[in-house]
Amino acid sequence: MAAKSTLPDDFKPPPDHYYKGIRMLAITPAPTFDAILEMEVREDDIWVVTYPKAGTTWGQEVTSVIVEGADLEKVKSKPLLQRVPYLELGPLGPQPASYKMVEELPSPRLIRTHLPYHLMPKQWFEKKPKTLYVARNPKDTAVSGWHFTKINHFFVTYETFSDFFPKFVEGDVIYGSWFDHNKKWWEHRHDPNIMFVKFEDMKKDLRGEMIRMADFYGYPLPVDKIDAAVEHCTFDKMKKNPMANYSGAHFINHKKGQFHRKGEVGDWKNHFSVAQNELFDELYQEKMRGTGLTFDWEL
Ligand code: A3P
Repeated sequence: MAAKSTLPDDFKPPPDHYYKGIRMLAITPAPTFDAILEMEVREDDIWVVTYPKAGTTWGQEVTSVIVEGADLEKVKSKPLLQRVPYLELGPLGPQPASYKMVEELPSPRLIRTHLPYHLMPKQWFEKKPKTLYVARNPKDTAVSGWHFTKINHFFVTYETFSDFFPKFVEGDVIYGSWFDHNKKWWEHRHDPNIMFVKFEDMKKDLRGEMIRMADFYGYPLPVDKIDAAVEHCTFDKMKKNPMANYSGAHFINHKKGQFHRKGEVGDWKNHFSVAQNELFDELYQEKMRGTGLTFDWEL
């Protein structure tokens, strides 16, 4: 297992910045976003796209398992971020920007990103590689995001959910507005190279969703390996899997919490006040009216 975080507890993250009006972490600087717009995209890439805290890691692991034909020994031999790199990270000190490393990878490349639709690389629109978008209901996404600010060294920490809530509502959080991000990807859900999947549906029927994804990717799961593949991707298994749980990641303050927190649908009920909930429901109606995008808010 990789060494645990070496960053001091009182590490102060460098200030966030705004790229084309969207709040971003300092560890993803503007020149990196500019370079990604121009990067090489391949037809046989597989892209995993999410708004942060919507189930990115889950989508990455599922994708990795599928593309490896459910060869779990192979999947467990490398950390997730080596199997499905996070595109817009870095450069970090001597470590080059992740997109440069991605450019060197053999095909088929698996690539994870949080990019909003309009900031995807120009070639992505021409080459049209298979792209999975995982969406999660915004109340649980907000709660998960707030908790993450407390354990991730690179995020500004919000002590209480009430401190974080207005920032989420305004879209002044990393990768901007949940509404803008989801709305745009949802508009393209019927494009042949895009599969729009909901976190809540993965919770309800992981097996069914994994089979659907495998068919979409063109890597059907071997029938005799499906049960083990699905089990491998459950919350409890991923939480214990050092190759998928970030237990060695330097960006997490491991004294404050674990990456795999609850993995549930409806935890927002433990955090939203009645007033926050009413305000959020109104906002959802206003922003998402006419889109047809609905979610399970609890299971
Ligand atoms: P919680 O904070 O609600 O527990 P991301 O990968 O986009 O950062 O999303 C992280 C969220 O997905 C966390 O939610 C995490 O626990 C949850 N998650 C990760 N793997 C999961 C799995 N296999 N099943 C269910 N939830 C999972």
